[in-house]
Amino acid sequence: MRDLKHAVLKLFLENRRESGKYYYTVPSPASYPYQWFWDSCFHAIILSHFSPHDAKNEIFSLLSKQFDNGLIPHMIYWKKGKVINVNWGKDGTSSITQPPMIAYAVRQIFQTDGDLSFVRTVYPSLYHFYRYLLTERDPHEKHLVGIMNPDESGEDNSPRFDDPLNLPPTNTLKENTKRRFQLVDQNIDCKFDAPFCMRNFFWVKDVPFNAIMVKNMQVLAELAEKLGNNDDALYFTQKSKEISSAMRKHQLSHGLFWSVYGKRYQKIKVKTWAIFAPLFAGILTKEEAKELVKKHLLNKKEFWTDYPVPTVSRKEPSFDPKGFWRGPAWIATNWFIYKGLLNYGFVEEAKRIKESSLALIEKSGFREHFNPLTGEGEGAKNFTWGGLVIDMD
Ligand code: GLC
Repeated sequence: MRDLKHAVLKLFLENRRESGKYYYTVPSPASYPYQWFWDSCFHAIILSHFSPHDAKNEIFSLLSKQFDNGLIPHMIYWKKGKVINVNWGKDGTSSITQPPMIAYAVRQIFQTDGDLSFVRTVYPSLYHFYRYLLTERDPHEKHLVGIMNPDESGEDNSPRFDDPLNLPPTNTLKENTKRRFQLVDQNIDCKFDAPFCMRNFFWVKDVPFNAIMVKNMQVLAELAEKLGNNDDALYFTQKSKEISSAMRKHQLSHGLFWSVYGKRYQKIKVKTWAIFAPLFAGILTKEEAKELVKKHLLNKKEFWTDYPVPTVSRKEPSFDPKGFWRGPAWIATNWFIYKGLLNYGFVEEAKRIKESSLALIEKSGFREHFNPLTGEGEGAKNFTWGGLVIDMD
């Protein structure tokens, strides 16, 4: 573990970049040479183990590009390079967001050094961001937060989005990317007006995004309380409860949570790691959690492969062990499941996820994702998310 911590630190020093007064970490120098939103939240969590100061810088650079309406873009180019030159209808950033992990990251930094002035400095921006999600992404006040593009889930080509995109379960990455870029063009046409874009083109209430929202609302309430702002604390606690019960009302069926889409809240019954995401926010009862872990996580025909946890169940027709978000194990999704298992006291199972994550990195290095059947590394190299294993403690 000590050697590993050293390797993570080395990787982070190599991937660190500076732009004027801002510092950030690139997920992978060759493949992802810019700043990404949820990646930076992961980076801040990892960096809090080495240097709260650097972790804060990761948050400051993110917030420096917050939009007037509160949105924090999922990509900040800082300086455009040769890869991923997408027209997002904006200069220097994208126009969509990613899973809202920033309150969690801020709390983790605060827990490390107790610096309340840092929380006070960033709190107004967090408030503004989460209010944007609670209003613009839930225009009818149904208490589920919508995404307007699959990339906002962080799982770009996950088979959860095949139906809403009108794609078959065996589409290629090329077809999938083409379709998602069509959506970006539509989003540009409707000026990224979220209610309008969602109503007309793509409106998914995704399980992990909402579970992450529930958890972050709890965390934000805690931070508000630390700042003596009891009204906000009550408000965010209330929002956390409302989203949690809306998830149970619209997404739960026979013990499993499914992402829903469209006006009729149609359930997308594709079994992905998303069924475990509610554990992270404590949305399941103890009994439900027990069933879920026994029947699905530890099931060799579904998620318990030689190198767990695959992002898609082996039983799904879309399962592809090398297919980006269509099967491989990713360390961030393992981290969410690990934390979720601990919430429910599944200490032994959590330990096994940690061991599997360590085994993947030992075998294949800091790769973007891993074949869950063989442990082989795939995708980007020198990829930062592997650092999350040091937060599995
Ligand atoms: C890919 C991933 C996304 C991540 C980005 C940078 O697009 O799907 O989740 O934020 O790469 O690592």
